[in-house]
Amino acid sequence: ELNGYEHYMLKEIFEQPTALSTCLGGRIDTVNNKIVLGGIANLTRELTRAKKFIITSCGTAWHAGLIGEYLIEQIARIPVEVEYASELRYRNPIIEDGTFVIAISQSGETADTLAAIEMCKERGAVVMGAVNVVGSTIARTTDCGVYLRVGPEIGVASTKAFTAQVAVLTMLAIELGRRKHVGPAQTAAYLKELQAVPGKIASVLNMAEHIKQIAIEYSAENNWLFMGRGLNYPVALEGALKLKEISYIHAEGLPAAEMKHGPIALISKGTPAVFVATRGSQYEKIIGNIEEVRARGGKTIVVATQGDDEIKRCADHVIYVPDTIEEMQPMVNIVPLQILAYYAAVHRGYDVDKPRNLAKSVTVE
Ligand code: F6R
Repeated sequence: ELNGYEHYMLKEIFEQPTALSTCLGGRIDTVNNKIVLGGIANLTRELTRAKKFIITSCGTAWHAGLIGEYLIEQIARIPVEVEYASELRYRNPIIEDGTFVIAISQSGETADTLAAIEMCKERGAVVMGAVNVVGSTIARTTDCGVYLRVGPEIGVASTKAFTAQVAVLTMLAIELGRRKHVGPAQTAAYLKELQAVPGKIASVLNMAEHIKQIAIEYSAENNWLFMGRGLNYPVALEGALKLKEISYIHAEGLPAAEMKHGPIALISKGTPAVFVATRGSQYEKIIGNIEEVRARGGKTIVVATQGDDEIKRCADHVIYVPDTIEEMQPMVNIVPLQILAYYAAVHRGYDVDKPRNLAKSVTVE
């Protein structure tokens, strides 16, 4: 079952190009220049006219939701709110006409997510699922949905389900955008880039040995920061969660600009600071943030766009990833952070597939 990999987590990280191809398979219609999502076909017209989306989920799936918020707002221009399911269920949510709920879950069994769905349904919301496990409780409870199709995820730390959750939200954003105002040329560009993502992830996997060396070098440090801006901010949050859950290192993810409002006080000589700083609309800004950490003695580990030589001036270590359009970059950028967390935990001697205190599906509150 492990196919020669030492752990399920590593196997699942390396499965991402094929898993993502399966997730995207048959859903990108380049002939008609659109996205086809069979599981929501009956409701696509209503979704296009949505006045607001509430995305709800927990943990890694919540991070995917944050990326979905940026994408749906940016591409489809529909307002989105992202709520932890554990908060939403006790918050007396406001569901007005035109509010749609999107629930994201790998297992389809998370108790808080299920309770949030039920509460929103009771108030009249139509709920769409983005679920991996076919026939799971959440898949059956939602009104419509898009399966992730990545196959069983055994490692407790979610990897391939995350990239697929982001892919599903990306497809949804593109299709809603296309039906509203995005022209055919832009749509074609999105579809082309989306199809290229699995191949780009594959080339990140070729860097695993380089990333492993960085992980080993810093694995004894007990406090790490992960930072990004815009779409790379949720990527930073997810990178920090991966590291903390399997290596038991304290890691904090934050929007890079928030650093100076407090967390910069944590930086001392040698503190590892991981920046997700691929080229995009906020590139110049994040360079400034990296320099600020450097000036305080922090060690900067930077995920950057292939060919960006200038970044070496402010980075102690660079992990290069292939360029894609900004909207697709999160699916590529998370992969080096998964690998980094994996090797840090292995080097510390922990069982990455069964981290302490954690269960694969959280079926109690
Ligand atoms: C982190 C992780 C958890 C889950 C969360 C939601 O690696 O696996 O944070 O993402 O418990 O689980 P699902 O997606 O099954 O609802």
